[in-house]
Amino acid sequence: MSRYFIGITGASGHAYAEAVTRALVAAGHEVDLALTAAGSKVLRHELGVDAGAGGERLGGELERWLGADVARSVRAFAADAIEAPPASGTALTAACILCPCSMGTLARVAAGFSSNLVERAADVALKEGRRLVVVPRETPLSVVHLENMARLARLGAVILPAMPGFYHGPRTIEDLVAHVAGKVLDRLGVEHGVGARWAGTGEPPEEAGTGPGG
Ligand SMILES: Cc1cc2nc3c(=O)[nH]c(=O)nc-3n(C[C@H](O)[C@H](O)[C@H](O)COP(=O)(O)O)c2cc1C
Repeated sequence: MSRYFIGITGASGHAYAEAVTRALVAAGHEVDLALTAAGSKVLRHELGVDAGAGGERLGGELERWLGADVARSVRAFAADAIEAPPASGTALTAACILCPCSMGTLARVAAGFSSNLVERAADVALKEGRRLVVVPRETPLSVVHLENMARLARLGAVILPAMPGFYHGPRTIEDLVAHVAGKVLDRLGVEHGVGARWAGTGEPPEEAGTGPGG
């Protein structure tokens, strides 16, 4: 069992965070979730989860949102909980996942500017040499965005844009979400059954994972 940190920001695509959380717990892991203040607004807007202005009510909403079985393995932290364990390198966090990652959080992490728990946890992952998976969501991308991604990639972060493929024959939004979530789980080295694995053209897709096209 490992503990993973998922930082949820004010970018669109909170369904990706939910899918990754569910899959990590299904694989027997524990998850620390933290929201930025903007993330709390988008969570309410996209998934109808009211975590309060700064995510301070997220803990109380976990059961309703994720169900009791998943919530049991999840800890929730507010944006300003900089005293929480994920803020310290001494807390053993297997990886930090920024999902979805706004261009604001991306810029602040790339600059080493830790103004909340999400940014601090990413900063900790970089300084401790732990895995940092960034799932940016924005379009189109400016040179500022691209340079910030390049900077984090040079520092060892995995830049895994929320860019679902269509070659695996998705039929629902959940299929598209699963394609990105499965890629995140692959980069974490976590076994999962999320999404369809590519079996070549002309073959029916197998369950789980992704194909050579990425
Ligand atoms: C409904 C909604 C959707 C948004 N989607 C995005 C997005 O996809 N990408 C992005 O970079 N910002 C997006 N934003 C803007 C960010 O939330 C905003 O820049 C915020 O300051 C980011 O703060 P954070 O990085 O602390 O989460 C969105 C805002 C709202 C209200």
